[in-house]
Amino acid sequence: MKKSLILVCVCVFVWMNVEAWAAPMPYRVQNQGSVQLSGEKSTLIFDPQVLDLGKVLEGDKISAQVLIRNTGKKTHQIVQLESSCGCTSIEPDTRMLSAGGFTSLHIEIDSFGKRGDVKKSIVLTDEQGNQSTVWLHLHVANNPHAMNSQRSLFDSSCKTCHFNPAQGKQTGRAIYAAVCVMCHGQNATGDYAPSLRQHDFSALQYIISHGTGTHHMPAFSQNKGGPLSTRQINALSRWIISLDD
Ligand code: HEC
Ligand code: HEC
Repeated sequence: MKKSLILVCVCVFVWMNVEAWAAPMPYRVQNQGSVQLSGEKSTLIFDPQVLDLGKVLEGDKISAQVLIRNTGKKTHQIVQLESSCGCTSIEPDTRMLSAGGFTSLHIEIDSFGKRGDVKKSIVLTDEQGNQSTVWLHLHVANNPHAMNSQRSLFDSSCKTCHFNPAQGKQTGRAIYAAVCVMCHGQNATGDYAPSLRQHDFSALQYIISHGTGTHHMPAFSQNKGGPLSTRQINALSRWIISLDD
């Protein structure tokens, strides 16, 4: 009894943290006008709510399917489906669900550039502003072919979010928020990619300009095909070393 209580507490704690961590920068995959969020849970429920896609090789495109069930007593409509990264595409069979009805949601994840354990969430919003979430877990294994790939984080389909947002940004803080935070985390303390807090100014300047030599961390300087000017790289490096521990 005691054990299961502890387990429940741990689960709730983990769940709350995962929710908080996933909150920033939603990508609106299909936005049908703005919806007032209610903060309530929708009766449109994903089935399952966590889907483990197992091990994949980097570069694979992974297709998955989950159901969305209407567990309520009235017809409800899916007005929005959002995922944080544009590498996830989502398409429901239908958006209108009568009481007790269900539909399939087709999901495709492009795993290029990913590695290790990756968690993606998709958030549904119904016509009343109520929401539901499904989590997709996958483990991306190194793929020697992806290492030699000609694709880049700055290519057409990735550019809108990983390149363009740097344009016109002047301060280190703004540049970091535009093109670094999604991998290196808030205040450069690390997330998907390592913490940047142990480097000095010239090391940062060098790595940001030239990259690390892998496609996971490409060269960001404009004369190497990246989005940042020398001036922006200097401002960014200065801001990172100014962060307090
Ligand atoms: C619409 C904006 C958008 C587009 C387009 C986009 N991304 Fe992202 N990407 C994000 C955001 C936001 C995050 C951080 C949140 C997350 O992990 O979903 C992210 C995270 C990542 C990460 C960190 C690992 C991870 O998945 O958590 C990698 C690698 C990545 N993107 C690669 C790509 C590649 C490669 C493309 C093009 C095929 C791409 N992204 C297209 C917005 C985008
Ligand atoms: C798509 C994810 C992604 C984005 C965006 C990204 N990085 Fe990285 N970065 C990585 C990964 C992954 C590594 C680890 C080294 C590797 O795999 O090549 C790394 C490594 C680094 C390193 C070396 C850290 C070390 O200790 O080895 C620095 C410095 C760095 N990045 C700075 C930045 C800055 C500044 C930005 C924004 C201009 C940025 N990165 C944007 C993924 C990313």
